[in-house]
Amino acid sequence: MEKIAFLGLGRMGAGMARRLLGARHPLTVWNRTPAKAEPFVAAGAELAASPAEAVRDADVVITMLADPAALDAVAEAVVPELRPGAHWVEMSTVGPDAIKELAARLGEGVTLVDAPVMGSTDRAESGRLGVLAGGDATGVEHVLAHFGTVTRTGPLGSGAALKLVLNAAVLGGVALVAEAMVLADSLGLDEDTARTALANGPLGGAVDRAFAEGVHFGTALAVKDLALATKAARLPAMEAVLEHLRSAAEDPALADEDITRAVTRIRRPA
Ligand SMILES: NC(=O)c1ccc[n+]([C@@H]2O[C@H](COP(=O)([O-])OP(=O)(O)OC[C@H]3O[C@@H](n4cnc5c(N)ncnc54)[C@H](OP(=O)(O)O)[C@@H]3O)[C@@H](O)[C@H]2O)c1
Repeated sequence: MEKIAFLGLGRMGAGMARRLLGARHPLTVWNRTPAKAEPFVAAGAELAASPAEAVRDADVVITMLADPAALDAVAEAVVPELRPGAHWVEMSTVGPDAIKELAARLGEGVTLVDAPVMGSTDRAESGRLGVLAGGDATGVEHVLAHFGTVTRTGPLGSGAALKLVLNAAVLGGVALVAEAMVLADSLGLDEDTARTALANGPLGGAVDRAFAEGVHFGTALAVKDLALATKAARLPAMEAVLEHLRSAAEDPALADEDITRAVTRIRRPA
């Protein structure tokens, strides 16, 4: 079995790394805040003191980090250490430009795959994510299958690009549901009646997400996603959603909370 280095044991990365441990892959872990790696070491993973140490002997390197700046910082340390023949699977949501920049930094013989994921923390734990794999994923598809259903999206960067499209649609949909509920409130409708009727319509999935429990997608991460999307195309409605999320994320009590809390603020402003 391949030696896997997993970098980034945040909310998503932790669930995903546990899938690899469960499948008995030899696993080395690194996280910027080392305390988050401790349970993995107790469960049989090797602890690396630095990103460079984590990847030195790895056949497959997986990164699941917050944003392009985090990826850039980790890449700086990792790139010189990768061994020829290694595969790097970049699974954070960073957009296609960051993938292009990363590809340009890699030496000969290292295969890069961009494979961001759809689904939140609950699906990361249970291995039911949607994995959007761009580039030549042939050598790592069996590893990605531990995380959920793999869709090959096309050339390198296409997974990262599709992830922005899908997240913009989800976040836009969730914001639309919140505004529809504002309208329902102001027209004096019963909350459950309005919510059930919306759930039975074409925005059903967005209604589920707007009221979801037991999942965690931080509001600051959603801001990052919509900022990347609105940089890539002119999207006036998404700009409005971005502004709303930005103002929610400026509240320290909300920045790291699931987006459902920010959505609540559309209905009931602070
Ligand atoms: N949560 C979701 O529902 C969800 C769903 C799909 C995709 N995503 C995407 O998946 C990625 C991870 O999300 P998450 O929810 O796991 O976020 P998270 O819990 O905030 O974890 C972020 C990870 O990035 C690390 N990190 C942040 N800045 C860093 C830096 N400068 N250098 C090195 N490491 C750094 C953090 O380390 P520390 O522990 O030291 O802070 C942590 O391991 C994001 O790109 C997110 O957009 C999230």
